[in-house]
Amino acid sequence: MGVDNGRAIPSLIKNSQNGKFDAVIHIGDIGYNLYAYNGRIGDAFMNAIQPFAAIVPYMVIPGNHEYTCYDDKCPGDNGMSYETRFKMPQNTNNMYYTFTLGPALFVAINTEVYFETEMSDLEVSQRQKKWLRQVLREANLPENRARHPWIIVYGHRPLYCTALAECREGMTFFKREGNGTVGSLYDIDDILYDYGVDLAFWGHQHYYERMFPVYNQTAYRNSMYENAFVNPRATVHIVSGTGGMESKTEEFNPTPSLWSAFRSSAYGYTRFSVLNKTHLYLEQIDVDRASFRYKWEINAILCKYFWGRGINSHEMEFIPDLTDFFAIRQLEVSDNE
Ligand SMILES: [Fe+2]
Repeated sequence: MGVDNGRAIPSLIKNSQNGKFDAVIHIGDIGYNLYAYNGRIGDAFMNAIQPFAAIVPYMVIPGNHEYTCYDDKCPGDNGMSYETRFKMPQNTNNMYYTFTLGPALFVAINTEVYFETEMSDLEVSQRQKKWLRQVLREANLPENRARHPWIIVYGHRPLYCTALAECREGMTFFKREGNGTVGSLYDIDDILYDYGVDLAFWGHQHYYERMFPVYNQTAYRNSMYENAFVNPRATVHIVSGTGGMESKTEEFNPTPSLWSAFRSSAYGYTRFSVLNKTHLYLEQIDVDRASFRYKWEINAILCKYFWGRGINSHEMEFIPDLTDFFAIRQLEVSDNE
């Protein structure tokens, strides 16, 4: 999401000010580009987001635009603007960190260590991988997982995607190979699976895509579509990259892989609510519907989660009255029309 064509910004402002969000997470490619024109683009972007970023936590992780310079906006600053404009937890120069919110543990990782040779080497990428394993191992100690049963990882470049330009089979194996010298995203797939990560959010591709539970290119989907998200047997990956940049959203590969469950190129953002220890509600917001009025939208799903592989076998906790929940959602739809 950038300052130029930042389509999601008005909706984020309005709904933050209306108390609809507990936090906003921006998964890299921030401002397009923070360093550009001696930082003046960065200043403009920070001013644009201030009406909501001053109200709720605004959590960030770097994308390729935080390191690589593009077009006439060069030279870049190799992440300096990103590192100095934000202050994320745990003093890692905003590279990777965790935080908890309600019953969820959020784990942020920097996928650029596998691609940007100026800021990374084998030691840097392996250090993050070691940290990630350690964090998730501790998160799965019974007392910790009981307190934070939801583990949600986010980073910039997706492990799975079906955009036409960069995600077709045979094209760097769905982006996971990295630059070939500092490891690859393959290992991240293993870690998410091994430690029972529930959800993984990614950006970079300019569209929205919800996957079926997937690991090692295998979609864990049942014959009944709805059942795939009940007791899923692998991590559910979400690509959420339509906050708005100067170029248009992307075209899809016309023959998506089996793990692709839903795709949309509408500008917007993903909102989700952790309802309790086993239920999570996720929806994609289309900010351009109804002549620039904001409408909660199109891809609402209710996930009933628990991991059936022994790593997180907490009891299913049923919501007493879902009717009330959906009634509230309907009111919100009305409010935004
Ligand atoms: Fe990107």
